[in-house]
Amino acid sequence: MNPAEFTNPADHEAFGVYVHIPFCASKCDYCDFATWTDRHHLTDAYLEAVRIDIAQEVAAEMAVATSIFVGGGTPSMVPAADLARVITAIPVTDDAEITVECNPDDVTEELLRIYRDAGVNRISLGVQSMVPETLIALGRRHQRANVISAVEAARKVGISQVNLDIIYGGAGERLSDWESTVASVLALGPDHISAYALTVEAGTALANDPARHPDDDDQAEKYELADAMLSDAGFENYEISNWARPGSECRHNMIYWRQQDYFGFGCAAHSHRQGRRWWNLRTPQRYIDAVVAGATVVASEEYLNDEGRRLEGLQLRLRTTEGVPAEALSTADAEELCEIGLIQATVSGWQLSPAGRLLANEVAMRLQ
Ligand SMILES: C[S@@+](CC[C@H](N)C(=O)[O-])C[C@H]1O[C@@H](n2cnc3c(N)ncnc32)[C@H](O)[C@@H]1O
Ligand code: SF4
Repeated sequence: MNPAEFTNPADHEAFGVYVHIPFCASKCDYCDFATWTDRHHLTDAYLEAVRIDIAQEVAAEMAVATSIFVGGGTPSMVPAADLARVITAIPVTDDAEITVECNPDDVTEELLRIYRDAGVNRISLGVQSMVPETLIALGRRHQRANVISAVEAARKVGISQVNLDIIYGGAGERLSDWESTVASVLALGPDHISAYALTVEAGTALANDPARHPDDDDQAEKYELADAMLSDAGFENYEISNWARPGSECRHNMIYWRQQDYFGFGCAAHSHRQGRRWWNLRTPQRYIDAVVAGATVVASEEYLNDEGRRLEGLQLRLRTTEGVPAEALSTADAEELCEIGLIQATVSGWQLSPAGRLLANEVAMRLQ
């Protein structure tokens, strides 16, 4: 893809807002996100604290958001009207992309109408697999049928962008199971698909069960199969794990990969402005207490120096089809990486080749 194709001019002043909802109905075996299954009683106080936190930043002249991403956790399990009040507290541009992550089990037309009326124009469904045995092996509780009805509901209500998250490498997942998952999600007609390699995160149930750990070669084969199937269906890979119909790339995620500014609200949320990074208190109770006490919700911060920021920027852009400028690789490294087929030329530099996307770290180590 020509990098210019998804450089939306309106996004030169991009500013993203992330809102973290730290509640889940059950903990998936592979997940190490800041989420809890035993704190639903905090929901009201938490959403109120997030609204107060946002109002304070708005009063302090927070930039107008070009995108909002409500993630988690499971945003779709908190009362939709209360979540809508949080979303509408954030000033946005007319064409802002506003995404809510949803669990397929929670999605109803009524819920999506409330979201839509609050400006939500994109939902991201955690599908993971369309094969019941693989869903069980991943420790997921939802039903395949609910994925289908959730996408139908989104279309009916007029949510214009639908992303489906899928994971490859669950225990016992055959290549044919993965093929069936990719074919089934394509049949639902989404605008965007994120396909992630199952990753073993320390401290998770999966980490404690080596028999279920994924195999690198198996995952590489599944990645290549997904890439081929998605390309054939008209999707373009624009970041290692992300494919979109042209024009449906996730603007919010592009902010992260382009090192632009974003504010995170809620516990454990991260923020970035001009090389300063900070992150909030990790638990919902501590976050609520800090807001109520009028204290800072920031747990810690760090500053990137110019060189660190430059190098990190290259590493992030390498993940995308925008790629890196020619001078980001020495002539000798570029020649070698081209020869072994890990990178390919763009109009102004280098991007990962399809094979290189599987070995991005090998290329990233050579960036200068
Ligand atoms: C933070 S989760 C939130 C979405 C929502 N709670 C859900 O799971 O349906 C976002 C996505 O990250 C991916 N993910 C989370 N943990 C992962 C892991 N250990 N390995 C690979 N993908 C993971 C899943 O595809 C998931 O849908
Ligand atoms: S993967 Fe999603 S639903 Fe599962 S525990 Fe993590 S945040 Fe919750």
